[in-house]
Amino acid sequence: MTASSAVPHHIAVVMDGNGRWATRRFLPRVAGHKQGVESLRRCVTACVDRGVSVLTVFAFSSENWNRPVEEVSGLMQLMVHALAREVPRLCADGVRLHFVGERGGLSAKLASGLLQAEAATAHNTRLVLNVCFNYGGRWDIARAAAQLAARGEALTEASLDRAMALAHVPDPDLLIRTGGEQRLSNFLLWQSAYAELFFSDRLWPEFDEVALDEAIAAYGRRERRFGQTSAQLAVEPRNRQVA
Ligand code: IPE
Ligand code: IPE
Ligand code: MG
Repeated sequence: MTASSAVPHHIAVVMDGNGRWATRRFLPRVAGHKQGVESLRRCVTACVDRGVSVLTVFAFSSENWNRPVEEVSGLMQLMVHALAREVPRLCADGVRLHFVGERGGLSAKLASGLLQAEAATAHNTRLVLNVCFNYGGRWDIARAAAQLAARGEALTEASLDRAMALAHVPDPDLLIRTGGEQRLSNFLLWQSAYAELFFSDRLWPEFDEVALDEAIAAYGRRERRFGQTSAQLAVEPRNRQVA
């Protein structure tokens, strides 16, 4: 018996490889990001179909501001357009959107688009889709600590956990990174303490349902021990901590 339930409750994804996908086709990098939105749409539907409850994706990191200005502005525009276009479909799929990240640095148009999309999907209950945009794991931890300090609250694991940007969902069970790199790049540093990691060589625009099923199958073969031993899990299955 493995300690993982067959389908992870919460999947997190570092959607990497859009730029390489475009460059290999002699296209501008932004064309890769556009294709990345299509891939995300497919992944959301696949997660709904498979009974995943929470999907958290990394769409723009705190560090991505360091990219060429045309790419950054292309990504911002793409976000504005994708929001306007995708919300009705997300509602049809029962998807509730949350944006996670620093909103201060975004344009007023984009910031209001994020709020509107959250409000328009707030009643949906099949899947929570957290889109990490202008997000960094260190930002998240520092912000949570600063909030607690400002309120004069003690810094404990539990209080920090409650102050983090993903406090509305349990920690990710499975963290997938596409694009061949094997690093977190400042994604969910706090929350992925016990996530099962899965690295795929596929570029994000090519990450389809078959690839998702491979990741879920690999997750199903893992034994999540949470510090215990295999023997303990075999003898006292009720002690298993399945997230
Ligand atoms: C990930 O794809 C998307 C963002 C960071 C916005 P990349 O743009 O990093 O693609 P590669 O890694 O250059 O191929
Ligand atoms: C991580 O990918 C950020 C997102 C997918 C949004 P990067 O492509 O920015 O990561 P590094 O720079 O290769 O570590
Ligand atoms: Mg990359």
